[in-house]
Amino acid sequence: MPYFQGKRILITGAGTGLGALMAEQFARQGAEVIVTARRRKPAEDVCKRVQAAGGRGHAMLLDVSDLERIPAFRDEVHAQVGPIDVLINNAGVVFGGEFERVSLAEHLNTLQINTLGLIAMSHAFLDDLREADQGHLVNIASASAYIGLPWGSTYAASKWAVLGFSESLRLELRERGINNVAVTTVCPSYINTGMFDGVRSPLLSPMLRPEKVVKSIMRGIRDKEAMVAEPRMVKNIDLLKGVLPGRVWDEVAKRTGISTSMKHWQGK
Ligand SMILES: NC(=O)c1ccc[n+]([C@@H]2O[C@H](COP(=O)([O-])OP(=O)(O)OC[C@H]3O[C@@H](n4cnc5c(N)ncnc54)[C@H](OP(=O)(O)O)[C@@H]3O)[C@@H](O)[C@H]2O)c1
Repeated sequence: MPYFQGKRILITGAGTGLGALMAEQFARQGAEVIVTARRRKPAEDVCKRVQAAGGRGHAMLLDVSDLERIPAFRDEVHAQVGPIDVLINNAGVVFGGEFERVSLAEHLNTLQINTLGLIAMSHAFLDDLREADQGHLVNIASASAYIGLPWGSTYAASKWAVLGFSESLRLELRERGINNVAVTTVCPSYINTGMFDGVRSPLLSPMLRPEKVVKSIMRGIRDKEAMVAEPRMVKNIDLLKGVLPGRVWDEVAKRTGISTSMKHWQGK
């Protein structure tokens, strides 16, 4: 039986990009998908794709930045669909540009959506995951959780925080003997979804296809991996930063184009 058969999976920000593709791919393996988005039309369109792919789909409206509504949203999910097995915290935004030229509201919104919304969703649904046979929390961070991202400082900050939160919760659940809930953190480099249009991909890290990233995420969930990194060398960044003197690492980041990759960002 395919691993995702019959699993009830809730995805945030599933109206476009990775979230929409994950919804469709889980449905191909017989999952029931709760497609959440902050606009009705994309949620319903993806829900149709889920049904066409052979899964059961439910379109629901959710703005993860509305932290106070999240417990009521969980109650709506329970009333309309039932408790979930898998939560995929995927919703995210980025506002690139020179730090002081990007509005403070946009910087703060980045943290509200990418970090606080993700924590609030995890808090609201953790009991569901604990009651599931095999619960799974999947947090979409980024390769920028490992490195400084000039012209994208609050995006990187939001993803560093996601990595710290996700790793800590994973270890806490293990220490507390809660062995039926896995936690996977996903750290991909740039993906061709439009979010990072205009960026110059760093050396050795070409723009990724969303299909490849979704395949890695699905394998990571099935194998209960703590970390899914694309490309895999992302995991080695910590090692490099640990052994190289700071000045040398800065030069590596500059020469490989990491430090300037966001300079020409025009994404959404
Ligand atoms: N693309 C990349 O290079 C890349 C690399 C590493 C990590 N990631 C991460 O991957 C995830 C998916 O991104 P993507 O590449 O698929 O880009 P995307 O197509 O822009 O997807 C982001 C989704 O989040 C939704 N969203 C934004 N604010 C929201 C809110 N307040 N409440 C609920 N949903 C909200 C967006 O909905 P709207 O359409 O309504 O705005 C959109 O559907 C993000 O967390 C992103 O940070 C992306």
